[in-house]
Amino acid sequence: MTPILTIQSEILKFLDEWKDFVWDLDMVENFGPDKKYRDRGGKFHKEDRAEYAASVECLMSLDHMTHDGFPPDSYGYDFNQVGRWVESGNTPADVAKPLVEKSKWLDDNLGNYIGYRFCALKMWYPPQGYISWHTNWNVPGYNILFTYNPTGDGYWRHVDPTGSDSPRPNLGENNENVITIPDQAGWTCKTGYYGKKHEHDKIIWHTAYSNEPRMTLGYVVHDKQLWMDVVEEIAGEPLIWPLKPYDERLYQFKDDNS
Ligand SMILES: [Fe+2]
Repeated sequence: MTPILTIQSEILKFLDEWKDFVWDLDMVENFGPDKKYRDRGGKFHKEDRAEYAASVECLMSLDHMTHDGFPPDSYGYDFNQVGRWVESGNTPADVAKPLVEKSKWLDDNLGNYIGYRFCALKMWYPPQGYISWHTNWNVPGYNILFTYNPTGDGYWRHVDPTGSDSPRPNLGENNENVITIPDQAGWTCKTGYYGKKHEHDKIIWHTAYSNEPRMTLGYVVHDKQLWMDVVEEIAGEPLIWPLKPYDERLYQFKDDNS
């Protein structure tokens, strides 16, 4: 995954309105087993080892060949699932209504503005929130992730699959293929292709963890040309393709100049 170093202002306007909406829900107070916004999963959180979910040790404990693509565990609140929770009787309709309406507003506006409509995930993470290692190889495609972290105290982590000849994560001799991209304060964007199970050198094993409340919006684009257009629209400028992989120095450079 490659960070996009700028997000143009029209897109930031929609992102900020969504962030303000979610922040006004006071999720940190209202998220929990008996709270208005119910937590689900969170196995490693319950075991008091939340960050283990994003560790190499956890990744290597998985049965990679039978992995279905979904994260086996997460600790957070996915606004995209709220409609389903109402149907199954787990969330009252009056709690869900404003969430579903605002989520639709975001998809109509942000989605329309940049020409795609499939939003895979709208996750809010509490402090010590995470999404454990997975591939999404059940829904391969070009991914665009927007992440908001108020302080930047969180991260994304993936395994670079370049040269891999198996669906299993290829960590390299000294874990040099494990790439950790720290969050930055405010919104950031990352993009890249998640491969199918047989596309061994394109499979992206990935995870994320945060010490702060954090949000991620995940969009999937299936057409390569459309994806390139959308990414340039987000950046607000033409880019050089293929995008270069994550480079710590460039990322730092962005930080110094923002
Ligand atoms: Fe994912």
